[in-house]
Order: sequence, then structure tokens, then C-alpha cells
Amino acid sequence: MQNFYYSIPTQVAFGKGQIEKLPEFVKKCGKKALLVYGGGSIKRTGLYDEVTELLKKNGIPFAELSGVEPNPRVTTVNKGVALCREEGIDVLLPIGGGSTIDCAKAIAAAYYYEGDAWDVVLDDNLIINALPIVSVLTLAATGSEMDVFAVISNEETKDKVGMGNPLLYPKYSVMDPTYTFSVPPYQTASGTADIMSHIFELYFNGVPGAFMQERIMEALLKTCIHYGPIACENPEDYDARANLMWTSSWAINGFIGCGKGADWPCHAMEHQLSAYYDVTHGHGLAVLTPVWMEYILNDKTVKMFADYGRNVFGIHEDKGEYNIARDAIAMTKQVFVDMGLTTTLREMGITEKDKFEEMAEKAVVECGNYIVPLTKEDIIEIYNRAF
Ligand code: NZQ
Ligand code: ZN
Repeated sequence: MQNFYYSIPTQVAFGKGQIEKLPEFVKKCGKKALLVYGGGSIKRTGLYDEVTELLKKNGIPFAELSGVEPNPRVTTVNKGVALCREEGIDVLLPIGGGSTIDCAKAIAAAYYYEGDAWDVVLDDNLIINALPIVSVLTLAATGSEMDVFAVISNEETKDKVGMGNPLLYPKYSVMDPTYTFSVPPYQTASGTADIMSHIFELYFNGVPGAFMQERIMEALLKTCIHYGPIACENPEDYDARANLMWTSSWAINGFIGCGKGADWPCHAMEHQLSAYYDVTHGHGLAVLTPVWMEYILNDKTVKMFADYGRNVFGIHEDKGEYNIARDAIAMTKQVFVDMGLTTTLREMGITEKDKFEEMAEKAVVECGNYIVPLTKEDIIEIYNRAF
């Protein structure tokens, strides 16, 4: 197991009705809030009214930044920074999924930087301070509600880049699973695939010795495999939503990654898909993951895949390591299909292969430190096989 530093400072209020604690959380962090939200789902569900009434009732002034895009753009981040400065904002209040929370994190950091927010996205060293963040989560997927990352897109340069800094942990996160009842099956499935991918990236990286973390990862994966399809089928199943929500946080909040650091190749490859084609992150991962798993299956990795098959899918037949590994990969793909996700890039609307080389060139810088490092040619081949 590698050495690690462990601290997850985000305070979580989890469960039905926890929103009542929001005013107290906001007051502990600042005096004037910037509400940050997406394209309107919170208005349709009534959450916007609930939050704004609570803020008004408790005498908390606020301004608003709406229209945060899925795959949030740096232009929106810059807009948010300007608003914070004009309005004298000292606490950010994102309400939504990962895109909204990520956008708020980038605003929080770029607020303390004089130039373009994109500089900060590209260089974590420019993060010298950050406005405090209180998040209200409405979609179980990215884990942004309890992690240090924000992923921001630049439409002009076709780049999608992750930034990370401990200053970006939300101070508080309100996680009420009933807020995810309205998430449509497609986003539920994509979110579940994203959670699973966060676990896979760590589980298969080959860093030895983190036995305890790996057993926890298996439990988290089983939770996704069990509850993902249930939530797609019955959107108002509370336990399904609650378990997915809590798993989304624990998949990426740093705990299971303790002592097991390496690159995240599937994410590196998928972020190029979203950057070039604006596809849904989790769906892109669901398409790439089984292809990548087959691609890296070799004598070095076969035992990990067979263990995954035995411990997560309960494959206990004596049929040889490679057969168990291949069954496990096929069953992984089937989980995505059962939740209604398509399995090729073409079905996602990517109809040309002409950008694969350019995308692979960008992805490869984050694919070298892994049990099976990927070259640019490997990545192009994976895109081709996923096509
Ligand atoms: O914009 P609104 O109207 O709110 O609609 C959103 C959006 O269209 C909708 N939605 C959210 N909550 C809903 C809902 N619809 C109905 N009911 C609700 N309760 O869902 C759509 C997708 O939302 P988005 O926030 O984009 O989804 P997600 O949470 O999957 O976030 C994806 C973004 O996070 C990044 C991804 O790359 C992508 O940009 N990631 C962030 C990470 C992190 N911060 O640690 C790690 C991840 O690996 C990932 O890269
Ligand atoms: Zn992800």
C-alpha cells in the first residue's frame, strides 16, 4: 500500500428533509450567497422555491447564476466570478449535479485569481484560496459533493480539463435522495456508470497491498449493480436512490483511493469524447469501459479481473482465470445495457473517426501510470473498437 494523507472535511447532512439545515450551513460560511444551478430542473421540481424561501426566511441575501451547462463551460465560470465580485458574494451555493457543483468550485478558485479562469483550470498551482461552498446534490454520479475535483470545458479549444485542490472540498453538502427521484432513467444509468468507473479506475490499477480498500470497492460496485437498474425502473425507490447517492460520494471522496494512486485512463479517454462531442460523461464511460477492460486483459491483469468476477458477480465455476475474467467483462457491459445505455460511439452520435488521433494525443498524457499503460496508438484502437 502506498503512503497517503487522509482528510475528508466535507460535512454531510443526508436524508429526507435535511434541507432545513441549509440556512445554518450558509451562515457559517458567509453573508451573501451565489445560487448556482443548471438548465431548470430545480425549478421544475420545486427545489428552487424551497431553497429561495428558506434563504429569504432566514435573512440570507443571494444572487443567482443559472444555466450551467452539462459539461460546464469556462465562459460560465468567468461569468460567475464577475457576478461574485459585483455582488459581494462570499459563499457559493450550487444546487444540482456534478456540472453545477464543478462550476461553483471553479468559480470559488478563480475568484482569487485576476486573469481568465481557464488559467486556473489548467494549473492547480494558481489556486491560492477558494470561496466556501455549500452544495445541494440532485444527481448521484460524480461525487463532486464530497471531493476535490472540478472538470471544466473550453469550447474554443475543445479541451475538457480536471482541476483538483483540497480547498475545493465543499464545506457542507446536503444530500436528500428524494431530490433524485426526478432524474430520468438515462441520467440515472449514466450516473451509475460514472460511479462504477470511479471505482474501476482504482480497482484495476494494479497498485498492490490495499486489500481492505479493494473489498470496500467490491461492496460499492455491488451496490451500483443492484440498485442502478432498480432506480431506472422505479425512480422513486428511496433505498435505491439513497444507496446510489451515498455510493457516488464514497467512490471518489478519497477514501477508497488511499494507498492506491495511479492514472485514470477511462476518464482521460472519455473527457475527450465530451470535449469534442459534448456527450454525457457517464454514458461515454459505459461505452469505453468494457472495450478498455478487454484491451488490458493479459497475464498481468487476468487475476484482478477474475477476482472481480468472483467477488462482485459471484462467478465461482472452475472454468479458468481467463474465462472468469471474460465473463465478468461481459456482465459489466450487460449491467449498462440493462439500464438502457447503448454500447457504441456511433449510437451516441459520433459518426466520424477523424478526431480520434487528436483526442488520443490529449488523453495519452494521463494514461501512462497504470498497470497496462496506454500509448496514443492503443487509445486510437480503443476508440475504434468502441466505434
Ligand atoms: O441542468 P439541469 O436542468 O439541472 O439538468 C441536469 C442536466 O441536464 C439534469 N439533472 C440534474 N439533477 C436532476 C436533473 N434532472 C432531473 N432531476 C434532477 N434531480 O441532469 C443533467 C446532467 O447533469 P450534470 O450535472 O451534467 O450530470 P453529472 O452529475 O453527471 O455531472 C457531469 C459532469 O461532472 C464531471 C463530468 O465530466 C461532467 O462534466 N465530472 C466531475 C467529477 C468530479 N467533480 O469529481 C468527476 C467525474 O468523473 C466527472 O468527470
Ligand atoms: Zn467520472
